[in-house]
Formats: sequence, structure tokens, C-alpha cells
Amino acid sequence: MISLRCVVENSVLPSSRLWAEHGVSFHIETPDGQVLFDTGQSGEVLLHNAARLGIDLAHVDAFAISHAHYDHTGGLRHAFKHTRPMIPLYANADLFRERYSRRGEDYEKIGLPLARAEIAAHVELRLSDEPAKMLPGVWTTGRIVDRSEFEGRSVGHRIFEDGEWLPDPYRDDLSLVLETGDGLVVICGCCHAGLLNTLAHVKRVFKRDIIAVLGGTHLTSATDAMLKQAINTLRTDYGTPRLYPNHCTGRQAYARLAEAFGDKVQPCPAGTVLAF
Ligand SMILES: [Fe+2]
Ligand SMILES: [Fe+2]
Repeated sequence: MISLRCVVENSVLPSSRLWAEHGVSFHIETPDGQVLFDTGQSGEVLLHNAARLGIDLAHVDAFAISHAHYDHTGGLRHAFKHTRPMIPLYANADLFRERYSRRGEDYEKIGLPLARAEIAAHVELRLSDEPAKMLPGVWTTGRIVDRSEFEGRSVGHRIFEDGEWLPDPYRDDLSLVLETGDGLVVICGCCHAGLLNTLAHVKRVFKRDIIAVLGGTHLTSATDAMLKQAINTLRTDYGTPRLYPNHCTGRQAYARLAEAFGDKVQPCPAGTVLAF
């Protein structure tokens, strides 16, 4: 059995006495070990919530980072004070590029709030664009290369490459895949590569049914046509997996998914515990 807890999210389970912040972190536990997927944006929330959920970070065997944005990586520095030295950290190869958000004429840094050297002093970096096996039954997707469907874009996101400001291609974006007896569970961070692109990649690489999708699906800026496309594709190509969308999914998209799929769609605030 694989058990999964949402440690950090924009909202919390009522009466849980957990803390909320804009960000995401999931804890995954299998008979073979534990993984922390993203760390939220602050150590305060990550450490408070982990303690309240009974998670001992000293038992975490590996980190996975969905992408560089601060709301997924800000808790890393604080987590390092509690995790064992030099456990592996899995991410795509482009993790360490500077990321920006355009605000008028200015560009604000929104990427990793700590330098590569600081990270490398605490973990063994395992950077690759290929799917990576973290534990038996727990994989990264690697880089989502084929993106024929719409992406999870924010208009202001930029990188500076070859002397030019360019739309962020989100080459750092990955999700996690859990192999369970019933099928695959996909856990997204922000899903900037696009929900449908990510699911198509998972289906192509892992060749099994997807039974559940969790996490940030970045449908917050999706148009009405995109939402219709997402709903149709989830129904026809994936047989409507269970959905636990949170973080950057957006209220409107959540409502539309719930309207289309009823109780197959469930909220996923911090404190959510699931078993597969
Ligand atoms: Fe995010
Ligand atoms: Fe993001």
C-alpha cells in the first residue's frame, strides 16, 4: 500500500490546526521508503504541518522537486535541517535556471530561493530529463517533451536565454507517478507542462491506466475551450480518473470539473490523507 499526505497547500482541512500558504508539498510512504515531493514556500509551514501530521523528516529517503518556483522549493533549506545528509534529490536537468515573472517593465525572480551549492551540500543531486525510479513503484515523469495539448502557462513567466527574454518553456516541470495494484496515480506540482500533456506522457511511458490525479493542475488560466477539452479528454481517453486538484487549479476549473464528474472530484487541502 502507498499512503499519501498533502503536507502544504493553499488551504487546510477544517479544524486540522495546520497552516496554509500558496504552495504544495506531498509526503509519500511505501513499504520501501518515504519521499517528500516539493516543500511549499516556507520552512515554517512545512515543519509545522509535517510535525502535526506525524511526519518525521529524518525518515524521508528522497526529495523530488516538481519545478523551480519558490512556492515548491522555499521549504528546502529548512527541511535540510531535519533530513539525513546526502539523501537523493530528483529533478529535471533544467532545475537551476533563473525563473522570472514579468511585472510591468520589471522582472521579479520566482525561482529557487537557494543556490545550487547550498542544495548540493545537503543532498545528492539526481538531475535527469528521463523518468527516474525513486523507489519501487515511485517514479518521476522526467521532462514532458511532447506538448501537443495546451500547457499550464502564466503569461508573465520568463527566462533570460541567449540575451533575450523568452516565455518560460518550463523544461523543469515534472510530476510523480505511483504504480499501484489498481493502476497509476499521478501527482502534479504545478503542471506547467499542461495536465493533458502530462497524462499523455504518463500513458505513453508507463502503459497502464491512470486511476487518480492529484495536485496543482494549473487550470487557473485555462479558457472555457481549454476546460471543455480537458473534461472531454479526461472522460474519453482516461475513463475519468479520480481527481484531487489543488493549488494552481483555480476555483472556476475546480467547479467545472466537479460539475462534470461529481464525487470523482475531491478537494485536496493540507491534511488530506489518501491510500492506494
Ligand atoms: Fe505552484
Ligand atoms: Fe509554478
